[in-house]
Amino acid sequence: MPRRKVIIDCDPGQDDAVALFLAFAARDELDLLGVTTVAGNVPLALTQRNARMMCDIAGVADVPVHAGAAEPLELRLETAEAIHGKTGIDGVDVFEPRTPLASDDAVSFIVDTLLRSGPDSVTLVPTGPMTNIAAAIRQEPAILGSVREIVLMGGAMREGGNRSPSAEFNVLVDPHAAAIVFDCGRPVVAMGLDVTHQVLSTRERVARIQALDNPVARATAGMLGFFHRHDTEKYGSEGAPLHDPCTIAYLLAPGLFEGKLCNVTVETGSPLTRGHTAVDFWHVTDRPHNALWMHSVDADGFYELLTGRLARFG
Ligand code: RIB
Ligand code: CA
Repeated sequence: MPRRKVIIDCDPGQDDAVALFLAFAARDELDLLGVTTVAGNVPLALTQRNARMMCDIAGVADVPVHAGAAEPLELRLETAEAIHGKTGIDGVDVFEPRTPLASDDAVSFIVDTLLRSGPDSVTLVPTGPMTNIAAAIRQEPAILGSVREIVLMGGAMREGGNRSPSAEFNVLVDPHAAAIVFDCGRPVVAMGLDVTHQVLSTRERVARIQALDNPVARATAGMLGFFHRHDTEKYGSEGAPLHDPCTIAYLLAPGLFEGKLCNVTVETGSPLTRGHTAVDFWHVTDRPHNALWMHSVDADGFYELLTGRLARFG
């Protein structure tokens, strides 16, 4: 079975970092063409540094890390230090990574890589604001022919917003980019809050990861130990939703998830509801079914997968 070609576009962020670790542990299944970074949880200088740190911690030296957009397409950047800490990855000791920055032009990397790839061959996995992906599509629409599917973390339906009453952070930060991605015409798998809020990093689950006692597991447990404190207060749940790793888990074990093809349209104009994802779950309009909207996940199976893969770093 040929490995799936993947580009991960992220804004680490503790949960992005765990998504990277999960992907790094699946090199037998995923051909990681590169990691591109975007401003989101924290400014770009930190998200790109954090992604390179994760390569060092996981001992991955053959996956290029590129820096991309420092600002959304049209709006001013909003960050989320209150959730992720000033470093973006509070919970792990920060260091200057050995992994070099491959370039500060992630958009050109995405365009060039896709233009030289075959039709329907590359999976894009955005787990932050989708600015880099949208900018690449705008710059060179021909790249879409090489996109197999886009598996993204973003949006919300029944869960409501986590950054505004009606919008999830990734889509709210850059709603114009999200609209371009949802409307690009290629298959989109959307991991919104409706599904990511079902995979909570409870103490028991974090303890099992901690017990693996390897550098990646220790970093994961440390980051999750920090990451969940805000969500626990906010939602009263035990443990934080592990948003971004849902995308990689879907690539490795799609059967863990259940979704429904429907239309997702992004609000870009309204000051009140900017970034809202209008999910036509009951097909009450004739809008095109542009996304597989995920609504259920086997949470125990998700953590079994994650813990089992992190054990590979032993
Ligand atoms: O709303 C959750 C998303 O926003 C996650 O991707 C998290 O990392 C932040 O980027
Ligand atoms: Ca993210």
